[in-house]
Amino acid sequence: QDCRLKLIESRVRAFPDFPKKGILFRDICPILKDPEALLAVTSLFEEYVKDKFQQVDLVVAGLDARGFLFGPLLAQRLGVGFVLVRKKGKLPGATVSVAYDLEYGKAEAEIQADAVSPGQKVILIDDLLATGGTLFAACALMRQLKAEVLGCLVAVELKDLNGADKLKPHSVYSLLQYE
Ligand code: PRP
Ligand code: HPA
Repeated sequence: QDCRLKLIESRVRAFPDFPKKGILFRDICPILKDPEALLAVTSLFEEYVKDKFQQVDLVVAGLDARGFLFGPLLAQRLGVGFVLVRKKGKLPGATVSVAYDLEYGKAEAEIQADAVSPGQKVILIDDLLATGGTLFAACALMRQLKAEVLGCLVAVELKDLNGADKLKPHSVYSLLQYE
């Protein structure tokens, strides 16, 4: 196994009953605090994308706020731009939005209408996949703007919540998987 994965795994903490009772919260903050672990995440994502996709036009965060942590680093490595998907009411100008559910609540995602052009090939990225509600919403926004989603990337996947099924036919690449 790639020793980078071991390093990343050692930098994820679990907090029981946060932010609500019954949720085991996987905290990725220690990855960000360790430059080697952050580099490991970025380089693994970069290698995967370069290996799997011929052409990428944009990296899109799915979403506010933790998608913003890894997205720009990857976009720079790929030499493409980065686009924000934000929680509703944060972006100026013309926007499109979609309501969604996540593991512990509800939210509304929004993107600037000119952020992505029809036919552009995009990679969606977030820190973590739980129920898939968030990335599903980001996919819906891409559909509204007629962009092509090449695939979804996350550092952590919570397998028992079946988020990857919800995102089908889009592919999900995760670095760490938890039951
Ligand atoms: C978390 C996480 C993902 C999402 C995953 O974000 O960063 O975006 O939940 O859950 P899902 O797969 O069930 O949709 P959260 O909405 O807590 O917001 P934050 O990034 O602002 O902390
Ligand atoms: N950890 C971090 N973010 C999350 C989680 C989790 O367990 N579930 C949904 N978003």
